[in-house]
Amino acid sequence: MESSKVNLDIPKNFDSLKQTIDISNLILIDAVNNSKNQFHTPVVSSIDGDKIVSRVMVLREFDLKKKIMRFHTDNRAAKIDTFQKNNTATVIGYDPGLKVQIKLQGNIKVHIDDSQTLNAWNGSTARSKKCYSVKDGSTNPIDSPETHDIKDHNVEEGYKNFAVLIFSFYSLEFLYLKSSGHRRSIHDWQDDYKTSWLVP
Ligand SMILES: Cc1cc2nc3c(=O)[nH]c(=O)nc-3n(C[C@H](O)[C@H](O)[C@H](O)COP(=O)(O)O)c2cc1C
Repeated sequence: MESSKVNLDIPKNFDSLKQTIDISNLILIDAVNNSKNQFHTPVVSSIDGDKIVSRVMVLREFDLKKKIMRFHTDNRAAKIDTFQKNNTATVIGYDPGLKVQIKLQGNIKVHIDDSQTLNAWNGSTARSKKCYSVKDGSTNPIDSPETHDIKDHNVEEGYKNFAVLIFSFYSLEFLYLKSSGHRRSIHDWQDDYKTSWLVP
């Protein structure tokens, strides 16, 4: 076993497909609370009309059994409308310490003011909640950024601007980079579960 910067033991060799999904599960569970794990902030890409749009987001939950990832955002952001028009999304991350890339394909569902948002809000720290008190919402052009620094605020007021994004994935692709031979696999749950090695 090789030790990485995030204290996860990654096998030196991936001999079975099961190992690739088990390690992906370990990495993504660790990433939720470990900011040193690069999968803590994966890139979430979606489609806005004829454009692919990508952004970094904090991974708040990973559940392989339910096949979901949870993200938080501001419900005033323009991306809310784009997810509602086209829910196709890809989440991708790479950790150089682990030498692992994980890519997931799926769909995003937006939650605003329901039991999901209440649970997620109640589980958030005051520091995380603070972002949702920014005035005017996200992405609007402004004359200077100082006018939107958050100073006097009641964190709980931010709940009205809070949204939860549930990314339900149907495939997970694993890539492990190693000079002696890369290892790439796909796990697909679209119909019955299928898995295979891929040419890296
Ligand atoms: C380290 C990091 C973490 C971020 N986490 C989030 C997040 O959890 N939710 C979010 O909406 N935006 C997050 N952002 C900001 C987004 O990357 C993006 O700039 C913002 O959401 C606007 O994206 P949009 O134009 O696609 O709406 C994060 C940015 C960085 C650099």
